[in-house]
Amino acid sequence: MPKGLPLIGHVLSFAKDPSGYLLQITKEHGDVVNMNFGPRGMTLITRPSLVALVLRDQAKKFKKPYRGFPALNALIGNGLLSSDGDFWLRQRRLSQPAFHREKIRAYAETMRTFTLRSLEQIPTELDLFEFLNTLTLEIVAKTLFNADLRGQSNRIGQALEEALLANRAQMAQPIPLPLSIPLPGHQRLKKAIGELDSIVFEMIQNERQNPSEFSLLSMLVAARDEDGSAMTDAQLRDEALTLLLAGHETTANALAWTFHLLLKHPDILAKASAEARSILGKDGCHLEDIGKFPLLKQIWQETLRLYPPAWSIGRTSLEDIQIGEYSIPKGQNIMLSQYVTHRNAEFFPDPEAFKPERWIEGFEKSLPDYAYFPFSAGPRVCIGNTFSEMEGMILLSTILAKVDFAKAADYKVEIYASLTMRPKNGLSVTTKSKAD
Ligand code: HEM
Repeated sequence: MPKGLPLIGHVLSFAKDPSGYLLQITKEHGDVVNMNFGPRGMTLITRPSLVALVLRDQAKKFKKPYRGFPALNALIGNGLLSSDGDFWLRQRRLSQPAFHREKIRAYAETMRTFTLRSLEQIPTELDLFEFLNTLTLEIVAKTLFNADLRGQSNRIGQALEEALLANRAQMAQPIPLPLSIPLPGHQRLKKAIGELDSIVFEMIQNERQNPSEFSLLSMLVAARDEDGSAMTDAQLRDEALTLLLAGHETTANALAWTFHLLLKHPDILAKASAEARSILGKDGCHLEDIGKFPLLKQIWQETLRLYPPAWSIGRTSLEDIQIGEYSIPKGQNIMLSQYVTHRNAEFFPDPEAFKPERWIEGFEKSLPDYAYFPFSAGPRVCIGNTFSEMEGMILLSTILAKVDFAKAADYKVEIYASLTMRPKNGLSVTTKSKAD
């Protein structure tokens, strides 16, 4: 085991700025650091060859740690993101067809039309992050659940927000406190989860009464075990909430960070808008346009390097394991961090700089495995990676083609790292719609 860091200062620094702290200790102590995180030991591993051992080569020797975090557990229970072993494999196989390339291509039209619809009423001053969150939530609800969340997305967004706040507080507790302790944050969380449950159970109820021709929910509702038993409502609820959460916030974050970086680099923003406008007409980005934006693609890849929405990944060892030269005991918590690994100057010269041009043809292939892994890789790779990349291109190009942005007077962006990495104060901008 690598040498440990002292407990107290370390927990406080992590609580204050999780991603910044992990970067700092990696710079100071190397790419494998043992953090004495109270009774829960935590080893931070950021060297790509070792990350590959955890996520791919020895993946079966690890489980997900989420069940140990009561806030997250109450939110997503035993859904695809948090379940393990044979149970996870079965649920993954059931869900996978909804993410096949052909299915995803059919979602492009919803992504385009929903974007155009939301741009019709875009105010001249707004929080662009909130706007993107609403849009991606409506898209994932329509594409995967055939549900129209217009008018409800604010309620859902606020409830998810409460859950993420409670999770952030628990990430920094050496032993996460059970929700039965009546802290104000816990009370708010329970109320928020009650709201989310009522919306999701209603979706399930609707699906049972009026089965849709095709949706992920319809497939899950229709699925039968070998013994003929169907998924319980409780399991359907966990899967649905997992996908609603994982399927919108991450992409909204990626887009919000993209706009943040573009606003910081007006020269690149101008070129990106010009690229979008040279290709697209007034009806936005169709499926066949997606491959026509080389600069936007580079910008998207560079954004996911600098601000990976899934900025860290946790695992717990199921047995004693050798990871490179390190012996990891059974029950050890492991943390991997895309945010830190993506800032390794060996692979990304001038790592803090926003340089879309580094993603020239062949650059990604030249990197060692797991030097760049915004969607992870291996058996637990993000099920929504193709969905998200398509959504990113459609929304980014359509918005850039139709709207000009500038920072508002109160624009102030900081990193907020909880389960995901998002801009802390949102993205306060002014807009000017381009004449058609
Ligand atoms: C930029 C956007 C996205 C990023 C950066 C991202 C990243 C990730 C990462 C890193 C994981 C692995 C987590 C782990 O192993 O602990 C993951 C898993 C997952 N993602 Fe995504 N994701 C994105 C978008 C989406 C979308 C759009 C969906 C659904 C529509 C989705 C659904 C999921 C699910 C269900 C899992 C769990 C998969 C499993 O373990 O089988 N994600 N995502």
